[in-house]
Amino acid sequence: MTARNFAAFPANRPRRMRRDDFSRRLMRESRLSADDLILPVFVLDGAGREEQVASMPGVSRRSIDGLLKLAEQAVALKIPALALFPVIDAAGKSLDAAEAWNPEGLVPRTIQALKANFPELGVITDVALDPYTSHGQDGLIDESGYVLNDETLAALEQQALCHAQAGADVVAPSDMMDGRVARIRSAFEAAGQIHTRILAYSAKYASSFYGPFRDAVGSAGNLGKGNKYSYQMDPANSDEAIREVALDISEGADMFMVKPGMPYLDIVRRVKHELQVPTFVYQVSGEYAMLKAAALNGWLDEKAVVLESLLAFKRAGADGVLTYFALDAARWLKDSA
Ligand code: PBG
Repeated sequence: MTARNFAAFPANRPRRMRRDDFSRRLMRESRLSADDLILPVFVLDGAGREEQVASMPGVSRRSIDGLLKLAEQAVALKIPALALFPVIDAAGKSLDAAEAWNPEGLVPRTIQALKANFPELGVITDVALDPYTSHGQDGLIDESGYVLNDETLAALEQQALCHAQAGADVVAPSDMMDGRVARIRSAFEAAGQIHTRILAYSAKYASSFYGPFRDAVGSAGNLGKGNKYSYQMDPANSDEAIREVALDISEGADMFMVKPGMPYLDIVRRVKHELQVPTFVYQVSGEYAMLKAAALNGWLDEKAVVLESLLAFKRAGADGVLTYFALDAARWLKDSA
């Protein structure tokens, strides 16, 4: 044999493991399953009502009867939980947001209907005042429009307790007030609600990707030119997200959310790797709208990009993903299993 110049060859050939399906499967580091998915849903008052959300093709607001049909599909596909968002009509909106803790309100009635029909399906409720305030802010405001922290805490406590007492499995404060997790946790302990979990939207950014959601729940018009910069986080920040999650750990939260999703994968990774907590991420309405619009135009392959985006959340470290694609994704995963 003549001596060969090995320097002329690649020293390593990573392509060997990528050559065949069997070896690609063996070295796959992250996996996505229906167990990772949470379906956000919009609920309306009344019966037999279903309205499409124009900026979110394929997503609609439904009255409780229609929502139960959606829940049935989620259960059949083994999706662990729903996240409930109410659409409140103008009569239910006020300056003090009192409808938010009405025990006969839309959210408590929806929780009761879901738990009565599908006891095994986790019900997550949003704790924030924006569906109930006439100005569309997540909290109570002063004369200048500034969102008042401590006054809002009292309202959030009543709202969270109302949801827990109606049977919510998880309450998810998405308001970004300081101290709300501690406040809700102590109210739960005092009321004997020791099993209700708290999913804290700890790292919730003041994002422009929430636009279609605000259309869906009808808060966009009320908010008008207002913004949420004085409580939601600045998109420029990363260390601050770690401090926010650390605070919510100390205040007694069980699960921690990063929101939005795809533009914030670095935050998902930092939270999971630096704090080792149950980490969730919200693929928000604007992300859904982007993917859906491109798919509807034939510019992207919907199934492929949606599953890739969800897998990317897992790779970054997420334990679960809230996504409007949850039902479709669970179906696709089942078909390819
Ligand atoms: C408000 C809330 C928002 C979303 C969930 N809860 C929007 C906001 O802060 O205005 C957005 C979710 C989405 O865009 O899908 N508490």
